[in-house]
Amino acid sequence: MPPPITGVIQDLERVLLTPEQISARVAAMAARLNAELAGKVVTVVALMDGGLFFVADLLRRLEMPVRLHTLSASSYQGGTATTGEVKVNWPASFDLRGQDVLLLDDILDTGLTLSAIIERLLVQQPASLRTCVLLSKRRQRLREVALHDAGFEIDDEFVVGYGMDYQGRFRNLPCIGILNPGQPSS
Ligand code: IMP
Ligand code: MG
Repeated sequence: MPPPITGVIQDLERVLLTPEQISARVAAMAARLNAELAGKVVTVVALMDGGLFFVADLLRRLEMPVRLHTLSASSYQGGTATTGEVKVNWPASFDLRGQDVLLLDDILDTGLTLSAIIERLLVQQPASLRTCVLLSKRRQRLREVALHDAGFEIDDEFVVGYGMDYQGRFRNLPCIGILNPGQPSS
């Protein structure tokens, strides 16, 4: 049972996705991957920090052997709009040659982050590369990203919770929501 939504919930204008909705969708995404990748060893590349909860919940539902690597990527530097410059801790300490790779991130927005990462991963010549995100914003991309799966399509609004932050806060919300205008107060 997820914890009840209390505390910082008053900073939300509204809840977009409840813990139950998120959990059901993540389970369905995992079921699809379990069917498609049965018998393979999967190498997960997880983008931190926003992907933390999604990755943790999805991976616990995967039934095949899994390796996990993380990368840190940021383009927001604290605000609600991308700076356009993607910072990635690269070169990575892993080698994906010949591996079946599953790239996971919290949200696809402009596409700058994932396209920068995918470009780097492909140089390592994986056998296959699937990109899955929990959320995909309905908006024009600055870079196109071929998604294997997206949990939810959402409107072009800034969201927090379930790993996603505003100025470092709200990652621990079990739901995904829209902040009150003028929040957070401190
Ligand atoms: P993109 O490079 O514009 O596609 O943005 C991708 C990254 O920006 C995601 O991995 C998130 O970390 C962050 N991001 C984009 N939209 C939001 C949002 O609405 N809330 C919190 N973080 C976001
Ligand atoms: Mg991110």
